[in-house]
Amino acid sequence: MKLKYFSHSAFQVTTNSGTKILIDPFFDGNPTSPVRSDDVNADYIILTHAHGDHLGDAMKIAKKGKVLIICVNELANYLIEKGFDAHNMHIGGGYNFEFGRVKFTIAHHGSKTPDGQYAGEPAGVLLFIDGKIIYHTGDTGLFYDMKLIGEMNAVDYMLLPIGDNFTMGIDDAVKAVELTNPKVAVPMHYNTFLLIKANPLEFKEKVEKTGHKCRVMDFGEELDL
Ligand code: NI
Ligand code: MN
Repeated sequence: MKLKYFSHSAFQVTTNSGTKILIDPFFDGNPTSPVRSDDVNADYIILTHAHGDHLGDAMKIAKKGKVLIICVNELANYLIEKGFDAHNMHIGGGYNFEFGRVKFTIAHHGSKTPDGQYAGEPAGVLLFIDGKIIYHTGDTGLFYDMKLIGEMNAVDYMLLPIGDNFTMGIDDAVKAVELTNPKVAVPMHYNTFLLIKANPLEFKEKVEKTGHKCRVMDFGEELDL
């Protein structure tokens, strides 16, 4: 399995059998993204919530081919009304797709579409793919139930925001890593805009002081997991 980071909260998972899954594909309005929506294709798109920097270019990319968008019920219904294929899920629920299992978790944040429609609760997502567990927390503040998520799931890669202002900042994110206990922490949602300026190397240093591993991914970098 491969994990690619585009910057902000946008990742792509490519499974061993070649299925491409985009998470929070924010490219065209994202000054740090190394790609544009024209350059990217997907079989599935997973959305954590409907804010413009997460819904991003999902609709543009989904229009290019046969793409199933996976997200919480209210946002899925919004997309279905616009003619897209979506799979309605909700927090606490998991479903086995052909590529693996997706389970939604809580996230403490807001959610509304860029055109002002109610989009349900924001979420985090657990991916169970090719024997690995990836936890993309979505936009969230620190919460103690991350300990429960970590106790019930041996998380391999935890993708979590460090940019502060709208989400956890560095110190809260370090605590989130301690609570969840992943094999590797990967910082996201930083340096896209001035308001979320943060130094990922400071996060890495602080995570390593707790005895955990951190991998700062470059914008555009792809890892073999
Ligand atoms: Ni948000
Ligand atoms: Mn955001």
